[in-house]
Amino acid sequence: NNLDTLYRQVIMDHYKNPRNRGTLDGEVLTVEMNNPTCGDRIQLQLSVVDDKINEAKFVGEGCSISMASASMMTQVIKGKSIEEALKMSEAFSHMMLGDEIDFEKLDFGDIAALQGVSQFPARIKCATLAWKAMEKGVH
Ligand code: FES
Ligand code: FES
Repeated sequence: NNLDTLYRQVIMDHYKNPRNRGTLDGEVLTVEMNNPTCGDRIQLQLSVVDDKINEAKFVGEGCSISMASASMMTQVIKGKSIEEALKMSEAFSHMMLGDEIDFEKLDFGDIAALQGVSQFPARIKCATLAWKAMEKGVH
């Protein structure tokens, strides 16, 4: 339907024009994470000051879902506290289980476009790769 088409376009836009792709200088947290089922990998860098995520950038290789998810994730966690970012990650996991999510309350940006991924179990790891990296980075 039309919503699926729109969501597909949003995903492809993030894949082709990734937001926050690149690396950070200075004192940053660097995390590498890979998807063992395909070998795709992401390097995520976070600049965290006083429990607040000021900057987030990533590089990596992967499928459209994994790269689009990383792009969307870096967009929404910027400016958030670590606690807020972890809450978002938990909500994202619930979304991948097919649960209803209050996108506006969560300030989820374009992430709603990934909700259809929950119907494809093999792709869920693609969508959660960046979030797992973020969780590892702040813990
Ligand atoms: Fe394996 Fe994307 S490269 S599904
Ligand atoms: Fe490798 Fe999607 S197929 S992350």
